[in-house]
Amino acid sequence: MGKLSGKYAIVTGGGKGIGESIVKRFLEDGIEGVAVLEYDVKLVEKMVSNLGEASDKVLPIQCDVSSEAQVKTAVSQAVERFGTVDILVNNAGITRDSMFHKMADEAWDAVLNVNLKGAYHLCKYVIPIMRNNAYGRIVNISSVSAFGNVGQANYATSKAGLIGFSKTLAKEGGPKNITVNCVAPGYIETDMYNNVPQEIIAEHMKLIPLRRLGQPNEVASAVSFLSSDDASFISGQCLILSGGATT
Ligand code: CAA
Repeated sequence: MGKLSGKYAIVTGGGKGIGESIVKRFLEDGIEGVAVLEYDVKLVEKMVSNLGEASDKVLPIQCDVSSEAQVKTAVSQAVERFGTVDILVNNAGITRDSMFHKMADEAWDAVLNVNLKGAYHLCKYVIPIMRNNAYGRIVNISSVSAFGNVGQANYATSKAGLIGFSKTLAKEGGPKNITVNCVAPGYIETDMYNNVPQEIIAEHMKLIPLRRLGQPNEVASAVSFLSSDDASFISGQCLILSGGATT
C-alpha cells in the first residue's frame, strides 16, 4: 500500500523535467491512475513505453492548458477513464525570459496564459468534481521566482499569482475537505534551467547554501507528500524547495 493507493490524479506538463518526476513518483507511491496533460504528448507516450506494467495506469492526453476548450475535453477524458479526480497538480509552465523593458507583449501573454490561466482552467473543471466528492488535493507548482527574479517579470507574476490563487482556493475548499498548496522550487536541473547563461548560473549557485542545483525528484517528493493523506491538515501553504536559498 503506497501513500497514494486508491487515488486518481491529473498532472499537467508531465512529459519531462519536474512533471515527469512527479508522474513517476506518484506511480511509485501507488497511484491508481494518472492522466498526464501535455502539450507535446509524444514525450508522455515515450515515458509510458518504458514503464512496463505501470503503463496501464497512465493516460497521456494532448492538451494546451491555455485553451479552456482543450482543458474541458481533457478533464472529461480523464473522468471517463478513471471515474474521478482526487489529486490535481498544476505543473505546466513555460518561460520567455527578458528584461521587462525589452519584453514583447506576446512573451507576457504566453507565460501568463500557460502558467496562471492554465491552472485556472484546470481548477475550473476539477474543483466541482472534488466538491462533489468532498475530497481533493491540489498542488500548484510555483517558483522562488515568485519573489522576484531579474529577467522574469512575466514568469514571476504568473508564479506569484499561483500563490494567491492557492491560498484563496484553500480557504474556499477547506469546508469541502479540499486542500490546496504550492511548492516553490528554486533552481532545479531541468531543460528550462539549462537555458540560463553560465555566468548567471554561477551567480545563482553562490546563493544556494547546499551549493548545488535541486533535482526534479526532490520536487516530486514534496508534491507526493502534499498530495497524500500524510498532509491532510496542511492547506494554503507554499513550501520553498531552494536548497536553503532565502528569497
Ligand atoms: N540585476 C540587475 N541588472 C541586471 C542583472 C541583475 N541581476 N542581470 C543583468 N542585468 C542588466 C545588465 O547589466 C544589462 O544592463 P545594461 O542594458 O545597462 O547593459 C541589462 O540588465 C541587460 O542584460 P543582458 O544584456 O544580459 O540582457 P539580455 O537581454 O541579453 O538577457 C536575460 C537578459 C534573458 C534576462 C538573461 O539575463 C537571462 O537569461 N537571465 C536569467 C533569467 C533566469 O534566472 N531565469 C530562470 C530560468 S529557470 C526557471 O525559471 C525555473 C524557476 O522556476 C526558477
